[in-house]
Amino acid sequence: MTNAPTMQLWSAEEAAPAEAAGQPTGPGARALKPLPADALIIIPLRGAVLFPGGLSPLAVGRASSIAAAQHAVKSEAPVGFLLQRDPQKDEVRPEDLYWVGTTGPIVRYLTGQEGAHHLVVQGQTRFRVLEFLEGWPFLVARVARVAQPQDQGPEVEARFLQLKEKAVEVIGLLPQAPDELAAVVRGIESPAVLADMVANLLDAKNEQKQDILETFDLVRRLDKVLGLLSARAEVLRLSKEIGDKTRAQFDERQREHVLREQLRQIQKELGEGEEGAAEAEELGRAIAAAGLPEDVLKNAQRDLRRLQRMGEGGAEASMLRTYLEWLTELPWKTAAPVPVDLAQARQVLDADHFGLDKVKRRIVEYLAVRKLNPTGKSPILCFVGPPGVGKTSLGQSIAKATGRVFQRVALGGVHDEAEIRGHRRTYIGALPGNILQAMRRAGTSNAVLMLDEIDKLGAGGFHGDPASALLEVLDPEQNSRFRDNYLAVDFDLSRVLFLCTANVLDTIPGPLRDRMEVIHLPGYTEDEKIQIARRYLVHRQLEANGLQPGQAELSDAALAAIVRDYTREAGVRNLEREIGASLRHAAVRIAEGRDEAVRIDAPELAAILGPRRYDNELALRSGLPGVATGLAWTPVGGDILFIEASKVPGSGRLILTGQLGEVMKESAQAALTLAKLETGEALDKVDVHVHVPAGATPKDGPSAGVAMYLALVSLLSGRAVRPDVAMTGEISLRGLVLPIGGVKEKTLAALRAGIRTVMIPRRNEKDLEDVPADARAQLNIVLLDRVEDAVRYAVGETAAS
Ligand SMILES: Nc1ncnc2c1ncn2[C@@H]1O[C@H](COP(=O)(O)OP(=O)(O)OP(=O)(O)O)[C@@H](O)[C@H]1O
Ligand SMILES: [Mg+2]
Repeated sequence: MTNAPTMQLWSAEEAAPAEAAGQPTGPGARALKPLPADALIIIPLRGAVLFPGGLSPLAVGRASSIAAAQHAVKSEAPVGFLLQRDPQKDEVRPEDLYWVGTTGPIVRYLTGQEGAHHLVVQGQTRFRVLEFLEGWPFLVARVARVAQPQDQGPEVEARFLQLKEKAVEVIGLLPQAPDELAAVVRGIESPAVLADMVANLLDAKNEQKQDILETFDLVRRLDKVLGLLSARAEVLRLSKEIGDKTRAQFDERQREHVLREQLRQIQKELGEGEEGAAEAEELGRAIAAAGLPEDVLKNAQRDLRRLQRMGEGGAEASMLRTYLEWLTELPWKTAAPVPVDLAQARQVLDADHFGLDKVKRRIVEYLAVRKLNPTGKSPILCFVGPPGVGKTSLGQSIAKATGRVFQRVALGGVHDEAEIRGHRRTYIGALPGNILQAMRRAGTSNAVLMLDEIDKLGAGGFHGDPASALLEVLDPEQNSRFRDNYLAVDFDLSRVLFLCTANVLDTIPGPLRDRMEVIHLPGYTEDEKIQIARRYLVHRQLEANGLQPGQAELSDAALAAIVRDYTREAGVRNLEREIGASLRHAAVRIAEGRDEAVRIDAPELAAILGPRRYDNELALRSGLPGVATGLAWTPVGGDILFIEASKVPGSGRLILTGQLGEVMKESAQAALTLAKLETGEALDKVDVHVHVPAGATPKDGPSAGVAMYLALVSLLSGRAVRPDVAMTGEISLRGLVLPIGGVKEKTLAALRAGIRTVMIPRRNEKDLEDVPADARAQLNIVLLDRVEDAVRYAVGETAAS
């Protein structure tokens, strides 16, 4: 198909500007990095929309477009053509372009006289831009191609026939149209192809053509093309009637009037017109009622008028409507401050959570300060601790205690500023960022917003660093004028009570951490867990499984067994799950018609929950020479770790396995050197193999030094390490035991694993203060100055087999 000159003649870009004409090779001659597989070179079009199937001549003038075209021809790279919003603009940036276009190989490239560059391109496939990439001297974007719809059926068929008829009619009205054109149109079999062909040839505004290009749904696309073509036919007929030979005398305004009239007619038939008016009225009311600040109100009213003028349908109208809906649904009005009753707040906190006295006290203090000075700069509370220790639920409690609405903003995996602050409205499918989304859900300006998993925030993305956007959100100096890219007007966040949660502190970006007051929730001891289960979890699970309190019961021994044998965690999330599983078992019995209460005791657990999950590891592993139990700190709250050493015939090498990091390898080397000294073994006929099994997590850090040392001494001396002892500590080559971190988490992990003696560096003695008293009471703590202390205490005298 060729361009029919009688129907339309356009030049995509005006002639090349003089300065570009002088450099025919352009920057495209340099070696460039290859394009990703789903990327296209983008050439912006000033005055034309390319459709699939259309063969179009284009003149390119801009240096970057020339470079793009030349690079594409040379490397046979695919090219995408996008219409620019403002044809006058020379420097185009992604937001200046429509994000839906057509790919097209360049089938001809001609350099004409006076250095003008001409392309002939063959439109191929629609595509939608996913993102623009940087690093090339022209525009490059990652795209998703959109296949032509294959829809059939009466809906499509009817419109297809109508369109064909209309097209033939219009061709007949054009005196200069070649006769074959009508035959070509009659021969087309695909509705999608016909729609695109007509749209391509049609004399319509570029915005209208772009709208058709962006209409992926075939029925709607056919309707739009039919609408435009009918209007065109009308114009041609009218112009004939007034005895005019061409449309030249029809000025823009008349033409537009006729088009509008047509459009209204079509809308009326489709029943869209009135609906649109009612909708606009409703929007108008919402705008008036939303409590918008004066300047925002003015903008909104102006946008509404624009929307009304624009009529229904069309990508821009729906964009504007969505925007106005967002605007009106945000909580602009300042909610009346709720007086904080401290006694009641304390009561709520106590009612929702067991223990955590220090944490609750700190929260009440925080609320007291806010009460006395509501507008003052209070720090942002950040709950830090392993999963399932109650961070999120404390946040909910705070909201309840202060009579506010609670909303969560998940930050895990957020790596682009746009997720916090939104995309500009000109992006296809743009929305506000997750802060304003949460505000809309909250529906009130003084909500509690919990920024969950702030430690999992990703590093900066294409649109900027999310951490810096969050800084602005949390800064009381700035957050009364928070600007979301989508909203593009200031929004006041200063009444929001922000809270954060994190599993670990050190991945929180420094400037953010500085703004927060950290509250640690290290995890619970066995006793605390049983209490939490008794008072909260069992009730909750009874209710969740449709049971009355009298109908099922878990004995104390059963709860203790679940804590000890079926879960190993710092928090209580799995505990709650296992309680739920046990109670479901009871629910089945009750549902089957049993009327006395189902009582679940420890011995029944194996039948309900399966074999115990965590009991015998210690017994299996320890008791052999060469095995020692270490303690590791992990983001989920500490764990025990077995170090296994063995001897194989060889030549004195140290073999390390089990995903060990560099630091841990060095401490193994140091431990071996020390162990050789201690035992006086020569070891040139054997290789020593050290393995740290369990868990696919990479292990690193120096704190396993003492355990490695003991494993090696035990191996070389043939004496087993006492199985009920676990240890942590770094070692120096002179045999000193050096302090480590995470004492609290490690001791709690040891208790969970059934260990009663923990050896820690003497210089960590002060950290024992943080270990809960009931845990301390169950533990025998051995303080180490030198590695020999550890050997003396933990390595038995009797040689094992
Ligand atoms: N001290 C406690 N008293 C009563 N219930 C508790 C206590 N601690 C935690 N829970 C309960 O344990 C469950 C898990 O808590 P929550 O969801 O708040 O954990 P989290 O610390 O936010 O974990 P994550 O880091 O995985 O998000 C909740 O149902 C919570 O009510
Ligand atoms: Mg949580």
